[in-house]
Amino acid sequence: MLAKPCSLAILHPRLPSCTRQVFLSNFQFLIPAHSRYRSSLSTAAQSPLDGGAGAGGGRTGALSPPPVTDEVVQKIDVNPPKGTRDFPPEEMRLRNWLFHNFREVSRLSGFEEVDFPVLESEALFIRKAGEEIRDQLYCFEDRGNRRVALRPELTPSLARLVIQKGKSVPFPLKWFAVGQCWRYERMTRGRRREHYQWNMDIIGVPEVTAEAELMSSIVTFFKKVGISSSDVGFKVSSRKVLQEVLRSYSVPEILFGKVCIIIDKIEKIPIDDIKNELKLVGISEVAAEELLQVLSIKSLEKLEEVLGGAGEAISDLKQLFSLAEKFGYSDWIQFDASVVRGLAYYTGIVFEGFDREGKLRAICGGGRYDKLLSTFGGDDLPACGFGFGDAVIIELLKEKGLLPNLNQQVENIVCALDKNLQGAAASVATKLREKGQTVDLVLESKPLKWVFKRAARINAQRLILVGLSEWQRGMVSVKILASGEQTEVELANLE
Ligand code: HAM
Repeated sequence: MLAKPCSLAILHPRLPSCTRQVFLSNFQFLIPAHSRYRSSLSTAAQSPLDGGAGAGGGRTGALSPPPVTDEVVQKIDVNPPKGTRDFPPEEMRLRNWLFHNFREVSRLSGFEEVDFPVLESEALFIRKAGEEIRDQLYCFEDRGNRRVALRPELTPSLARLVIQKGKSVPFPLKWFAVGQCWRYERMTRGRRREHYQWNMDIIGVPEVTAEAELMSSIVTFFKKVGISSSDVGFKVSSRKVLQEVLRSYSVPEILFGKVCIIIDKIEKIPIDDIKNELKLVGISEVAAEELLQVLSIKSLEKLEEVLGGAGEAISDLKQLFSLAEKFGYSDWIQFDASVVRGLAYYTGIVFEGFDREGKLRAICGGGRYDKLLSTFGGDDLPACGFGFGDAVIIELLKEKGLLPNLNQQVENIVCALDKNLQGAAASVATKLREKGQTVDLVLESKPLKWVFKRAARINAQRLILVGLSEWQRGMVSVKILASGEQTEVELANLE
């Protein structure tokens, strides 16, 4: 966990003597000099929880703000913590649109939605294989001295829930989730410290039919949002390829996860460092050479030539590619032995979605994890799934000009023309809302010009004016904004 000590306590000469201004990077509090909060603040400033803005900017410090009392004036940083996002309405519309598509696609395949707490026990995410995700954990001790963490991914929580449900649930389980995950990442395009992930997982199916179905769902999603196989592809491999090589050199099974994590770094660190790390965990030089050679294979035929056709790696991959053809997405997938994935728990097929222009990091990724449940003390069950982040796909859609134009849309704007008609307008709004119509209600006295401007901004279809003379006759004035046509409508007939 990165910790960054904050600088504290600068006196501001022009403030009244009873007040000291404390600067914490760009986070400021005005605190009375005699305040009892001063000491708790300085303790908190050394908290290991400091988000440690690290490389430049952003809000620092995990300080508990002092309780608000009359004597405390706070000037806060209006930006969210580095790497996190606010979702003002325009961003929220986009997020809702994206999540709606995630959910629609999942439901098309008969998956049920689940969710888990964002805060989990830290132990759930501690694996010993040296994964990057462990160093990126937002973890701390809660007030009851329990070690907890903000989830960096959803899979361990899903495994926990499957174990908890035991045999009471009917297998196979087909579950999906859309949830926020937290990783203390170095920020790059599409990589943030907080992101949302769409996950689909199948528990209880040992055959690669499950992986084939999952990939078909991702393709359905891509097509739904306008992305084609010329924009995006999947690189697919199987960890069983590595397993077969390691077995042939009698490398103990226990090292498998560690070796995968080392090999996954192949594009991030120099090859000599990879070889060194492999050596350190006990992989001989010859075995390392062969592993690296196998990883460069990009065709199934070549792989079969090297490994022979008898093993599970080849038969799984062949079956998967043949199913992809039947599902109708063979043009989206390609074999690439270099795909290993950075999580220790995968045991079989692994895949990653990538943009063909190579501008972005992985769009999504997943695979089979048949042994994860037993690492938590449960009985193993065949399982596979994928995670699909919200950030990279938005970048890609932007890049391709495929972002939808989402405006606020309210069907009616109802406006009281007179202060005495506020109650009347409110009753009109209630009546329409009860009929399922969306209504923006304007009760404050505003000039008509203002009301028309607002109607245009919220894309209202009708303007309903509640004026005295019409109201006395049980009528309201209804203007269809697209055509400008205006009529008086009896209240009872207002639909
Ligand atoms: P992952 O590859 O670590 O896999 O993450 C899956 C996806 O989440 C990535 O491909 C990316 O779209 C998104 N993602 C990950 N980290 C970030 C980040 N810092 N900022 C933005 N987006 C990010 C997993 O998490 C596995 N648990 C997936 C899985 C589910 N495997 C089986 N079931």
